[in-house]
Amino acid sequence: TPDMVADGGEDGVRRRDFINIAAVGAAGVGGVAVLLPLISQMAPSADVLAESSTEVDVSAIEPGQAIKAVFRKQPLFVKRLTPAEIEAANATPTGSLRDAESLADRTKAGHEDILVTMGVCTHLGCVPLGAAEGELKGEYGGYFCPCHGSHYDTAGRIRKGPAPTNLEVPEYEFLSDTVIQVG
Ligand code: FES
Repeated sequence: TPDMVADGGEDGVRRRDFINIAAVGAAGVGGVAVLLPLISQMAPSADVLAESSTEVDVSAIEPGQAIKAVFRKQPLFVKRLTPAEIEAANATPTGSLRDAESLADRTKAGHEDILVTMGVCTHLGCVPLGAAEGELKGEYGGYFCPCHGSHYDTAGRIRKGPAPTNLEVPEYEFLSDTVIQVG
């Protein structure tokens, strides 16, 4: 410790000063350098959170189609539901769901055909597939996560598999009838 070398005369003092400077350096520079990567793994960095919001034009999305966008460096799904998909979502008793939300809870009034969710499985973060993508269709007509088999319904709600909660609906608003702003 610095105290142990302080008695060592002039040479010891210089060594102590050096040790103190080294300690400050480690805490002030090395410490931050070590901590930052850890923090950025735990939560989005301030830079990412401050990123401008994402705008999506929904007018070109056909019923039954979803487009993928990027919001805060993560996949974002914007889907236009068909009348049958809306009906299927509304036919499911909300109270029977693992994460009880209605389609109306997850969409905007007057726009319940537009479903905006993060494309991030709530189990361990894989990107789920849309029902139209390949053979790996979900049993509930919405999204299917190929990593461990979570099935999401047409409202993006977890119905089967290990994911604990529904696909997250981020904050968003309609800027016009055709453009949404996410974030
Ligand atoms: Fe999607 Fe595990 S990450 S089911």
